[in-house]
Amino acid sequence: MAVSASSPRSLPTGAEKRVAVRAMFDRIAPRYDAMNRLMTAGLDQRWRRRCLDLVGVGPGDRVLDLACGTGDLLEMAALRGARAIGVDLALEMLRQGGRRLQGACFVQGDGAGLPLGDASVSVVTCGFAFRNFVSVPEVLAELVRVLEPGGRLAVIDVDRPAARIVRAAHGAYFDRFVPWVGGLLSDRDAYRYLPRSTDYLPEARVLQAWFEEAGLVSVERRGALLGTAQIWTAVRP
Ligand SMILES: C[S@@+](CC[C@H](N)C(=O)[O-])C[C@H]1O[C@@H](n2cnc3c(N)ncnc32)[C@H](O)[C@@H]1O
Repeated sequence: MAVSASSPRSLPTGAEKRVAVRAMFDRIAPRYDAMNRLMTAGLDQRWRRRCLDLVGVGPGDRVLDLACGTGDLLEMAALRGARAIGVDLALEMLRQGGRRLQGACFVQGDGAGLPLGDASVSVVTCGFAFRNFVSVPEVLAELVRVLEPGGRLAVIDVDRPAARIVRAAHGAYFDRFVPWVGGLLSDRDAYRYLPRSTDYLPEARVLQAWFEEAGLVSVERRGALLGTAQIWTAVRP
């Protein structure tokens, strides 16, 4: 099934979701960066920087950027002196990143079965991808496996604001304007799916439980920009 957005029940699950997500990101890869900057007026980059600040990425760190896409977080980590590797399912996203960031380390792989050794990285970052995973708990188990003891995790994803007026304004923007612009400049189905895929994200207390059940500690959640984004940080004990 292709990713489309006709009704909540049309959101794919299981193996079907994996295939659909990969095909969708392969399709939108050429315009992915431009659409991100346009949709968020550049704020997406500020949120990514905040993620790296929160877990103190710097020289000496070995960073895995999971679901790296075209490599925005990977590039920021490298600019801070860290050695960084990006892993993503969609080959076209990696190709776009490779064209932009010559010499960066991009590897095709699935977060549910990472091509990395145990305790091989000191930091994991993951930007705007949790809602695309088939099973977040499975991915978290893998992230704990590859993180060294004391290793830090930073995850950022979108969110729906709680305040009613902000929620309504955000809904009009995210659910209507974004698919419209996406249709003009990229792929309408994909940019209809992206806002709706927020429905895959469970409420905060469930996500918190998943982090903790994976064995992570110091799990913290921060809202960003009036609740339109959420940043999670945690530590592997
Ligand atoms: C919205 S993009 C985010 C890309 C990048 N992290 C950023 O901040 O722009 C989501 C990415 O998750 C990737 N992805 C989805 N499921 C994945 C999985 N199971 N394993 C690895 N990458 C996955 C997609 O291919 C896509 O590149």
